[in-house]
Amino acid sequence: MPLSTSERAHVQSIWGKIAPQVNELGGEALERMFLSFPQTKTYFPHLDLSHGSADLKNHGGKVLKALGNAASHLDDLHGNLSSLSDLHAYNLRVDPGNFRLLSHIIQVVLACHFPNDFTAEVHAAVDKFICEVAAILTSKYR
Ligand code: HEM
Repeated sequence: MPLSTSERAHVQSIWGKIAPQVNELGGEALERMFLSFPQTKTYFPHLDLSHGSADLKNHGGKVLKALGNAASHLDDLHGNLSSLSDLHAYNLRVDPGNFRLLSHIIQVVLACHFPNDFTAEVHAAVDKFICEVAAILTSKYR
């Protein structure tokens, strides 16, 4: 089910708050993911995954920026995510189950940093949004 008008508004509004601090929040999300779900580290043997590292912030920032970009292209998510979808399916071959883990972790970070904004409705909308993105990023697996 595509996002409703109010779900879109929730997603865009919370991403407006994330945008100025994508590296910090993205780095924290990755650090939490690697600690809570250590199996996800296996995809990043080439990065420095130590607490607060530049690699964590750079990569985390890229992931949150890509999600922010997708949030601004909700009418054409497939087109917007096409090259990322190729990358994750053909090059990286990330196990699709990991997308659920990352989605959960991003929501924990949002709940910690934006406790007043991250209402139950915003939470549900963000969950649906990341789920749609993940479905596209894993749609070319075969
Ligand atoms: C690379 C986004 C999920 C593993 C990337 C890049 C972006 C991105 C923007 C950088 C592409 C580039 O540099 O051109 C996302 C989004 C995700 C997601 C939006 C889900 C919402 C995952 C998951 C994993 C993963 C769940 C594995 C646990 C990787 C790896 C790279 C990568 C290994 C390459 C890193 C490098 O060598 O620099 N992703 N990703 N991604 N992603 Fe994802």
